[in-house]
Amino acid sequence: MPKNKGIIGAAEHVAIIMDGNGRWAKSRGKPRLYGHRAGAKRVRDIVEACPQLGVKYLTVFAFSTENWKRTQTEVAGLMKLFKKYILSEAKRLVDAGVRVRFIGDRLRLEPRLVQLMDELEKMTSKNTLVNLTVAINYGGRDEVARASRRMAQDVAKGKLNPDKVNEQTLARYLDTYVLPDPDLVIRTSGEARISNFLLWQSAYAEYEFVKTLWPDFTVRDFQEIVSIFGSRKRRFGGLLAS
Ligand code: FPP
Repeated sequence: MPKNKGIIGAAEHVAIIMDGNGRWAKSRGKPRLYGHRAGAKRVRDIVEACPQLGVKYLTVFAFSTENWKRTQTEVAGLMKLFKKYILSEAKRLVDAGVRVRFIGDRLRLEPRLVQLMDELEKMTSKNTLVNLTVAINYGGRDEVARASRRMAQDVAKGKLNPDKVNEQTLARYLDTYVLPDPDLVIRTSGEARISNFLLWQSAYAEYEFVKTLWPDFTVRDFQEIVSIFGSRKRRFGGLLAS
């Protein structure tokens, strides 16, 4: 059962599938990385808008377990962009009260990037205004598989009783164990797919699919979606409270 059962007034946790960077760049006759760079700028605007909209948690899908299939140039460019983003945004994020976390499998990421990710998590660990979670080398199925592996290891070590394993147990092994489930998942660029993002956590989320390409997604678009969400009622499969 979700922790926040009942009528929701605000989207406390918003998750975003930032899609459309490539098409945005292509329409301008530019390489795909130009679109990703523009996309990174939007992340900053959206993060900064969260406090005034009552969004305490923002989770963004930056790189999926499937994205390794892209060209070597694009993958390398994205990894470089993540490093650059961390280095150039760190101070701003610390000052803005943003706590940053990363989810996904770090094993396949280059050590320098993992080091910067760890440092940014540490630097922002005292912040409480907004919780920004960036998913890098993340896949929902992969996350559940990794969680199951760790659970099985704990069973083998005698630390966990297999008869006691339930939904809450599995949730504690997920990358997102400290986060509430998302209330709202937004995907830009007109595609109506979940693409392996927060599969377990989004069981009761509302979805909003918008046509806008991510680099064109404005704070105003974000504001509109969040306020529409606030006027909806969620039932979590039960009856609506009056
Ligand atoms: C999807 O658009 C976007 C990505 C795979 C990368 C997302 C990365 C960013 C927005 C920039 C960096 C983010 C951070 C947090 C620093 P696409 O390339 O699939 O676009 P397309 O569908 O039009 O080809």
